[in-house]
Amino acid sequence: MNSEPKLIELTRILDHRGNLSVVEQFKDIPFDIKRVYWIYDVPGGENRGGHAHREISEFIIAANGSFTVTLTDGKDKKKFLLNHPYQGLYVGPGWWRTLDDFSSGSVCLVIASDYFAEEEYIRDYDEFLKFNGI
Ligand code: TYD
Repeated sequence: MNSEPKLIELTRILDHRGNLSVVEQFKDIPFDIKRVYWIYDVPGGENRGGHAHREISEFIIAANGSFTVTLTDGKDKKKFLLNHPYQGLYVGPGWWRTLDDFSSGSVCLVIASDYFAEEEYIRDYDEFLKFNGI
């Protein structure tokens, strides 16, 4: 069974000079941090994702603005609105993800458990269902 997606509340260091939040590997998220990437300048109405990972875990943060993450393991469907820079969504392998409803100026920051490798992606939905034994 795939590990359950989970919204994780991060430490908030409130300060009149501006607030700060932090992610540390194995303390705040259950994996090694190997890669960080971010998605920005998303045109209105566009969506991202449309794939699953065979092995990689990710932690998705709305560093600015908001967007919706829809996840399915082929059976259950879960929807998360990310709209605070002090929380993130843990997504383990074997979850098909779609990101949409990006607000103007939003930034999607993703922390990943491994380096980029195209062969590690599942981009075909039927193949994904097979991968999950469906
Ligand atoms: P993709 O993961 O499909 O983006 P999204 O999750 O938004 O659908 O990646 C889009 C393109 O960027 C694809 O050609 C692979 C490339 N890419 C990298 O080269 N390195 C990376 O770390 C990532 C995440 C993507």
